[in-house]
Amino acid sequence: MIAPADSQSPSLPFEPYRIKMVESIPITSPEQRRKALEEAHFNLFKVPSDLVTIDLLTDSGTAAMSDAQWSAMMRGDEAYAGSRSFKRFEAAIRALTGFDHVMPTHQGRAAEHILFSLLVNAGDTIPNNCHFDTTRANLETLGAIAVDCVGDCAYIPDRDCAFKGNVDLGRLERAIDGAAHVPFALVTVTNNTGGGQPVSMRNLRAVSKFLKSRGIPLFLDACRFAENAWFIREREEPGRPVRDIVSEMFSLADGCLMSAKKDGLVNIGGFFACRDAGLAGRFKQRMVLTEGFPDYGGLAGRDLDAIAVGIHEAVEESFLEHRIGQVRYLADRLHGMDIPTVRPAGGHAVFIDAAAFLPHIPAPEFPGQALACALYLEGGIRTCEIGSLMFPRKGEAPKLELVRLAIPSRVYTRSHLDYVAECADRVFQRRDDMQGLRLTNNPPFLRHFTAELAAAH
Ligand code: F0G
Repeated sequence: MIAPADSQSPSLPFEPYRIKMVESIPITSPEQRRKALEEAHFNLFKVPSDLVTIDLLTDSGTAAMSDAQWSAMMRGDEAYAGSRSFKRFEAAIRALTGFDHVMPTHQGRAAEHILFSLLVNAGDTIPNNCHFDTTRANLETLGAIAVDCVGDCAYIPDRDCAFKGNVDLGRLERAIDGAAHVPFALVTVTNNTGGGQPVSMRNLRAVSKFLKSRGIPLFLDACRFAENAWFIREREEPGRPVRDIVSEMFSLADGCLMSAKKDGLVNIGGFFACRDAGLAGRFKQRMVLTEGFPDYGGLAGRDLDAIAVGIHEAVEESFLEHRIGQVRYLADRLHGMDIPTVRPAGGHAVFIDAAAFLPHIPAPEFPGQALACALYLEGGIRTCEIGSLMFPRKGEAPKLELVRLAIPSRVYTRSHLDYVAECADRVFQRRDDMQGLRLTNNPPFLRHFTAELAAAH
């Protein structure tokens, strides 16, 4: 693809799509943003989207669908049972993953909830490279212990390792040896909580082999499997087709939990897929209680068709090259401005190291949230804190204080990313004047969604 003419600037391949429909972006005044932030009690989840100019809160469910997906939706078969949409959905996922049994759910955490309620008892230990917040919360609600076994490199934001999402096998072994019972292990690809960082094929093979030797099933938390596969192709197995890499990744696991809202390129949906007919049967029994009949799992037939098409678009190499290229472009621009970010850039998001950005704000005063609020005030940019607010720890601060700038797939262009970089630079120039925050309302679970805050001093 063609690099930009100015060779000084980071390069970015052009969008491998053209625009057929547009959505206006809200432009707000500083006064409107200040008022919105105060009314939201410094919690960006409470800011109305019509007061957000560039929404980088999440890449989840925010992708732009293709004309092929919209057309497929028109073919949606809304039969309660035996629908043709389900057949197409099942065939698409089987072809990509090799898993025989595919159960749709309304999103990823619904699949987590059902699977965990079948397999997890209080006191069990579940290792992962890093648990995502809903995964951890779903396990801890059942009284289980969610252990992160990612390698040390993941905790050093500016250490440039190729596969920062890798599981540390020693840590995994210790977690298993020290546990009363381990019903299964998870590996999250890419590792969202650790910066959207990939797991290498070598590491996946080693984890899979080790778990097999212990008789412990492995499930992939596979939301961003295609992005992970792209990194394997770039950094480990150059030239190997992405589809081939994807099929080996899934072949190393016993099943996967999937939020199709990421690499399914849809606005809603998820699934659980596995090899074990017995487990699939129990999952189907249970899902009827909360998700619906196994042929639709809380989704409309048209949603299943959108996933069937989207999940195959997500492994197209031109798409992945641009997608990962966009994230890298923004990360490189910020890096060029001396803004501290997790290096190398992850797959779906740029993570600013808020602890290094605001060294004068201690963890109990939420440097990540303070930075996220400043970016909103500066340019109406909505981001997400992944640090002390999202992961409260009794006694100790979490290892990283990050602000995530998640890039929705196929939504923003290079000029939007340039605007984000310029706003971030202006905030960086006045960082010494910024203050921390304190909690005024502290909910017990997943508190970042509903917590309320105020200026610390
Ligand atoms: N696992 C991972 C690694 C995730 O990133 C998410 C969602 C889930 C599970 C749950 O999926 O939202 O469909 O229920 N991550 C979103 C995010 C919310 O913004 O990173 P879900």
